[in-house]
Amino acid sequence: MKYLVIGSGGREHTIAWRLLKDGSASEVYVAPGNGGIDPAYRVNLGISDFEGITRFCREKGIDTVVVGPEAPLAAGIVDRLQEENIPVFGPSAEAARLEGSKLFAKMIMEKYGIPTAGHHDFTGKAGILEFIKKQEQFPVVIKLDGLAAGKGVGIPESREEALAFINENVGDTTRVFVEDFLQGEEASVLGISDGTTVLTFVAAQDHKRIFDGDRGPNTGGMGAYAPAPVVTDERLRRIHSMVLQPTIDGMKKEGIPFKGILYAGVIIHGDDIKVLEFNVRFGDPEAQVILPLLEGKLGDFIQGSIEGTLHTKSISFKKKHAITVVMSSGGYPGDYEKGKEITGLDSLSDSITAFHAGTVEKNGKLYTSGGRVLNITAMGDTLVQARDAVYNEIGRISFDGAFYRKDIAHRALK
Ligand SMILES: Nc1ncnc2c1ncn2[C@@H]1O[C@H](COP(=O)(O)OP(=O)(O)O)[C@@H](O)[C@H]1O
Ligand SMILES: [Mg+2]
Repeated sequence: MKYLVIGSGGREHTIAWRLLKDGSASEVYVAPGNGGIDPAYRVNLGISDFEGITRFCREKGIDTVVVGPEAPLAAGIVDRLQEENIPVFGPSAEAARLEGSKLFAKMIMEKYGIPTAGHHDFTGKAGILEFIKKQEQFPVVIKLDGLAAGKGVGIPESREEALAFINENVGDTTRVFVEDFLQGEEASVLGISDGTTVLTFVAAQDHKRIFDGDRGPNTGGMGAYAPAPVVTDERLRRIHSMVLQPTIDGMKKEGIPFKGILYAGVIIHGDDIKVLEFNVRFGDPEAQVILPLLEGKLGDFIQGSIEGTLHTKSISFKKKHAITVVMSSGGYPGDYEKGKEITGLDSLSDSITAFHAGTVEKNGKLYTSGGRVLNITAMGDTLVQARDAVYNEIGRISFDGAFYRKDIAHRALK
């Protein structure tokens, strides 16, 4: 099987690595890829160049396309490739609205009884301003409807902060909603679906803030680990039966069958489990810890999703623990410099896998090219072993300004 993976981050490097390692694929191309991808398989095409991607699939005889990020899914890459009879893994543009429109997701959850925070929605400034003026309880959560690359949610602690967030982000036609602030511990529970069946992956936990102790501004994710102990086996079964399966059933009833990865961001407080949001693709960095733990062949599940045969398969995971620590450019998630030479990757032991994100290769040397640069990943029989393996060796890798969190997995190890 020849695969083409769309995207350029750590998630896409991990998907490509996994497809090759478990024998799912004989060849995996990645467009546009990064410095971690063998140059012979790096394809110089943008993720929204559907024309170019289609042509490339024809030329190379690609059997299956796997789409990493949300933007091309929301823009209809799956619909487009299907029209061309190119097998592709992921949701249609309409189904991708579960991520692309937080109000669409809210509508589906409310209609099909999936637990989520109560909300009030508004179009434009006037209504929400009036609502906030009467609001007694803070913090509240304010969410913009559309894809906002992690910048569409405000959690104001006071009325003044709420008004400032609204004035900055809400225009006359902006769709926006206020939802109840929920206490609890967050986790990422992903499933793979063929539109009818959904199989659940081991739960993971991301670390969104830049600094140790979950302080500082939000990032794309500074590290992850799996399994996340807050999601006990019993809670995982409940998330399957109360969240993932009813969402898949609901989407089917709506006439918008959902195929691909359905990612539920949940918040857990004792017996209470609520959905904060859906994503429609693997998380980055969650993929870096979930995929190494998967038993069997990733390609079998991808083909099962495309062909509608997931009911014939069962999914299981190694009884191990995985952790990934993101090395980022100094200054990220604010301004940072690129083009710093990266050294030391060749001195890592075999127990460590370095998934690349913002790297480029030039004449055999590696340089930084993004905010999140590398994902240093290990498995162990215990989480402590996995964590120590990464932190014992991460110091061997260096580039000017390199930064990483020292406390990934702290919630599980406290
Ligand atoms: N209802 C809520 N109560 C408490 N915290 C929330 C709530 N909704 C979102 N958050 C916090 O805001 C973060 C971002 O919200 P989310 O819905 O995941 O949007 P996005 O990932 O698109 O920015 C969550 O990870 C969580 O920490
Ligand atoms: Mg989120």
